[in-house]
Amino acid sequence: MDYDFPRYLAAKKTVDDRALNAHVWQVLRQNLPSQPQILEIGAGIGTMVERLAEQLFISSANYTAIDNQPENIATARQRLANLPAGIQLTLEAIDLFDFMAREQGQRQCDLLIAHAFLDLMDIPATLPQLFTLLKPGGLFYFSINFDGVTTLEPTIDPALDAKIEQLYHQTMDERITDGKPSGDSRSGRHLFAHLRQAGARILAAGSSDWVVFAGESGYLADEKYFLQFIVETMHQALANHPALDGTQFANWIAQRQAQIEAGELVYIAHQLDFVGRWPVN
Ligand SMILES: C[S@@+](CC[C@H](N)C(=O)[O-])C[C@H]1O[C@@H](n2cnc3c(N)ncnc32)[C@H](O)[C@@H]1O
Repeated sequence: MDYDFPRYLAAKKTVDDRALNAHVWQVLRQNLPSQPQILEIGAGIGTMVERLAEQLFISSANYTAIDNQPENIATARQRLANLPAGIQLTLEAIDLFDFMAREQGQRQCDLLIAHAFLDLMDIPATLPQLFTLLKPGGLFYFSINFDGVTTLEPTIDPALDAKIEQLYHQTMDERITDGKPSGDSRSGRHLFAHLRQAGARILAAGSSDWVVFAGESGYLADEKYFLQFIVETMHQALANHPALDGTQFANWIAQRQAQIEAGELVYIAHQLDFVGRWPVN
């Protein structure tokens, strides 16, 4: 399979559109000031700014989107060429930690967005630094935080399915990036305490599960590719895992890919969204 990350992010957009928690989204809309300064971290190919513009959340805003992959930022530049004129967009390929070191508390945004991103970080270590990017009293919107459930239907082998899910989540819990712990398979539920410890107030929270299945005309939009990418990600994460029989696991992956081809695979991932203010008072 061709492993094309920008295409995966584009295919993910319709899945996210259905998943985003509507209550949290409305609370964000109600609290957003006019002409906001917005900073989005780990913005990928820019689907969130696109969504905010499409849904008329923002018609006039100063929007900075960063991502550490130049390929993503280059794709964002092409996708976002026709944003409404009132949205002043700055895109930058830069690592979040280099960005925070450079800005050193000088950036004062009204809204900080991290979408499908925080679960890749050491959240308790990163949140206090992140909040220095925000204006006191500013808003944060942290959406699609993975929360410990990956369901693939139909069942292939109940014991093996459960073992693969557990080992896959363990790879998230043990992930090290640049020598630092960087992941938590239960980021969603842990955010309640982590946000409180970082001095933030939660205005709304709710689930934002991905639910992907084939309807009468098959999978929607490019969601077949989205599923193929997810199964391939599991494959790469667990290839050569000592607790799995290599041949059995390879067969399991092949069966999952065949279920996608047949339009049979249903995929559910449990996630949570949050909107709030920092600091508490
Ligand atoms: C799961 S993707 C989500 C992207 C986008 N928010 C979306 O949902 O379409 C996570 C993104 O974070 C970026 N990323 C990971 N670590 C980063 C870091 N340290 N600094 C900046 N971006 C980072 C990746 O390049 C990737 O685009």
